[in-house]
Amino acid sequence: MAVPPEVLDRIKRLREEINYHNYLYYVLDQPEISDEEYDALMHELKELEEKYPETVTPDSPTQRVGAPPSEKFATVEHSVPMLSIDDAFTDAEVRDFDRRIKRLLGMDSDADMEYSVEPKMDGLAVELVYENGVFMLGSTRGDGYRGEDVTANLRTIRSIPLRLIERKVKAPARLEARGEVFMNKDDFARLNEMRERNGEPPFANPRNAAAGSLRQLDPNVTASRPLDVFFYGIGLVEGHTFSTQWEILHTLKAWGLKVNPKIEKVKNIEGAIRYHRRMAQIRPQLPYEIDGIVIKVNSLEFQERLGTKARSPRWVLAYKFEAAQAITRILDIVLSVGRTGAVTPVAVMEPVRVGGVTVSRATLHNEDEIRKKDIRIGDWVIVRRAGDVIPEVVKPLKERRNGTEKRFVMPATCPVCGSKLVKKPGEAVWRCPNPDCFPRLVRQITHFASKNAMDIDGLGEKVAEQLVSAGLVRNIADIYDLRLSDLLSLERFAEKSAQNLLDAIEASKKTTLPRFIYALGIRHVGEVTAQLLASHFRSIEKLAKASEEQLEQIEGIGPEVASSIVAWFKDQKNRELLSRLLGSGIQFTDLKAEKERPLEGKTFLFTGALSSMTRAEAGDKVKALGGRVATAVGRRVDYVVAGENPGSKYRKAQELGLNIIGENEFLKLIEEEA
Ligand code: IVH
Repeated sequence: MAVPPEVLDRIKRLREEINYHNYLYYVLDQPEISDEEYDALMHELKELEEKYPETVTPDSPTQRVGAPPSEKFATVEHSVPMLSIDDAFTDAEVRDFDRRIKRLLGMDSDADMEYSVEPKMDGLAVELVYENGVFMLGSTRGDGYRGEDVTANLRTIRSIPLRLIERKVKAPARLEARGEVFMNKDDFARLNEMRERNGEPPFANPRNAAAGSLRQLDPNVTASRPLDVFFYGIGLVEGHTFSTQWEILHTLKAWGLKVNPKIEKVKNIEGAIRYHRRMAQIRPQLPYEIDGIVIKVNSLEFQERLGTKARSPRWVLAYKFEAAQAITRILDIVLSVGRTGAVTPVAVMEPVRVGGVTVSRATLHNEDEIRKKDIRIGDWVIVRRAGDVIPEVVKPLKERRNGTEKRFVMPATCPVCGSKLVKKPGEAVWRCPNPDCFPRLVRQITHFASKNAMDIDGLGEKVAEQLVSAGLVRNIADIYDLRLSDLLSLERFAEKSAQNLLDAIEASKKTTLPRFIYALGIRHVGEVTAQLLASHFRSIEKLAKASEEQLEQIEGIGPEVASSIVAWFKDQKNRELLSRLLGSGIQFTDLKAEKERPLEGKTFLFTGALSSMTRAEAGDKVKALGGRVATAVGRRVDYVVAGENPGSKYRKAQELGLNIIGENEFLKLIEEEA
């Protein structure tokens, strides 16, 4: 089968590009693209070469492990090549690996294969030669066959022993120990801070910082850098034999070589998959960067039988974590209001998977930051999950602009309450000065979602705060626009909990008119009043058009309540809110199903003076809600409402052991604010 010309072309382009990035990365320590972007190029090339094996040439980047060492250091030949590891990104690929191994070894497909599982350190590989226990020579991996002599620099790393410990195990005549040099996240941040203070360019990530620090011609510079190392394997060994990877790790440790304490031995591939999940979860808390786990056949005899392909052994697999960076587009920039009134611009993006979750929002911090990074609406951007939690826009891809992108302009007023925003001199953050703004919105949302209102299970205060802080919800109608990807971008939300909330929101659309009226949160309109309004008007449209006079005709509704209702429906913002809510598919089930007379069958007795109304008015309310008013104490009285200076009825009620309540409790019962 002939290779199509466009495939040949693509292969040529890919090789050139990969070679160039190899050079930037390995020789100059100045990569221009992320590891993920590089991996994607390599992956594409490998796939094409696998499909068209006749295109493979010895100089293809797939046929060697890295790039040539830079000229600066002496060259060290590795007696056993330092190969690379095949990657996997899904459970299915990992299970394939396990099946393949067992097939090659002639084992039963459902037999257990024991693996050593280890964090995949994101640093740079080194090999250290110990002769009779003494550190003699250290080198980088280089192209896998030849690396650079960095002995003097490695000697400056304190965790590297200059002589092996022999208390438990005698040192072998020759040991080539292999491991990963890295820098802790904290140390990296501190180093960069210092560099910026000194006007030096910061390192892009801890791995580059570690590589740049180790490959210094002056060992004094290396010595000043906080480097560390974990050992994970061996090259050539003389004078000692091992039978498992697990034994290697423990013997290295016994010799005083630092081994990652998170290593484990698992009895089958499912154990390795579970280990991967656990490591992904604790990854943000680890002090160092890992980009996956390494799964190694534990038995060295099996390893030998499985052997090696051109560039990687068959007995080992890297199960990588999903990329922590991705490329997507900014569709809009909206504002979120925080607890302290800080108004933060948030990028609304085309949903994209980053670090294993789909994100569609990222904080842009503040106006100055947007200007500094020159982020515009419509831009293609790199997003990253910082600390693996909150997504962040790293930078726009300016070369992808087409002129339709729009600059963001910070509005002068609060998007929630309309107050004029203020900024303290020297601060970058605009704030809403209205102390009621954030908590009020949170309260509106929780009221709307509460049991007796729209009854949205799972939308309590914590979640409401998160939604407002993220700029996802700026009024109650926004609740019905939430998507799965929005929720997944919040802390503490996983696929299942997010879906549960969306289901609850969807279910809330089937409601009753009284619940809906109550949910709107109109002042003075409690559950009972909402009930009265619903039974009287029977439609929200009619209620919206009602005049104060019409409202006051309803028994149980006074002038204050009437004017509050009219004012609410007159407000343009509320009208829009209402039409959006109704437009989102809210449906009212039959009114009769709902209890229209909440005090039906209950008898009240009043004694003493009430402060908020006369006893007659109180009695009218009770009657309007279906209750009865007694004039004399008797066993059939359900509630004795005691006001100021209650009389003899009070004593009698006490003697009979009746249920005596105060005015506040009464008001709560008839759902008027106490
Ligand atoms: S074993 C042939 N174990 O990953 C297998 N490598 O892509 C030799 N790495 O260059 C490597 N952590 O720098 C192994 N626990 C671990 C590792 C690990 C990180 C790096 C290593 C190697 C690269 C392979």
